[in-house]
Amino acid sequence: MYLEVTGLRKSYGTGEGRQEVLRGVDLTMERGTMASIVGSSGCGKSTLLNCIGALEVIDEGDVRIDGKSLKGLGKLERERYRRENIGYVFQFFNLLADLNVRDNIRVAERLTDEPIDYAALLDQLGLAGIEKKFPSQLSGGQQQRVAIARALAKNPRLLLCDEPTGALDSTTAKDTLILLEKINATFGTTILMVTHNQVIPQMMQQNIVMRDGRIIENSINERRIPAEALEDL
Ligand SMILES: Nc1ncnc2c1ncn2[C@@H]1O[C@H](COP(=O)(O)OP(=O)(O)OP(=O)(O)O)[C@@H](O)[C@H]1O
Ligand SMILES: [Mg+2]
Repeated sequence: MYLEVTGLRKSYGTGEGRQEVLRGVDLTMERGTMASIVGSSGCGKSTLLNCIGALEVIDEGDVRIDGKSLKGLGKLERERYRRENIGYVFQFFNLLADLNVRDNIRVAERLTDEPIDYAALLDQLGLAGIEKKFPSQLSGGQQQRVAIARALAKNPRLLLCDEPTGALDSTTAKDTLILLEKINATFGTTILMVTHNQVIPQMMQQNIVMRDGRIIENSINERRIPAEALEDL
């Protein structure tokens, strides 16, 4: 199994203000597959992603990627784990405003010894013509493509996406999903995507539903359809 989450617990705050956000999460994913996580606002989806991506420290339980445990890692070790394994795509792109497209992507490239070929990446993502532009000069869909290129530049094995299409219109959202599907097929990148959209799970091999800090449904989608065929996004 590529990703193994076992008995994961995470709380925020202390004493009276303590809030248990993840209350024992178990989850596995096969290498090279795509999974969706849905659930109402505040149920812990982003927190789960952040624990898997080592942006948050785990209270109890464990996260293993490729057999390597995150438990007890120090700050530097977690940074290294992130650098070597994880790509992140957020709802609001989080591009650096003062850097053009090229430099936004190349920042990430330096983080690894084995970057994806930059020219091929630009080509795949349809960014070749806008290399010199700055984020403020791009549409939302273009900004998200740049953010995806940045996440992929270091050739991560696991791509964590937190509502990647949340800020996009339906056509641009679909293009972004088609792109992510292509990345999964081309590079074998395992993709775990949080979404509020009810249609997106149809393109994933695995569908996860969360409620109140727990996984209440986790099923294999035998009838997955290509992103291209998704309707009413
Ligand atoms: N850094 C933090 N400090 C304190 N509380 C936090 C922190 N991050 C999240 N929380 C709380 O944890 C709970 C779960 O938050 P989380 O962001 O994981 O929800 P979510 O399922 O992603 O929701 P949404 O769909 O709105 O993005 C919320 O009640 C939130 O207020
Ligand atoms: Mg969230």
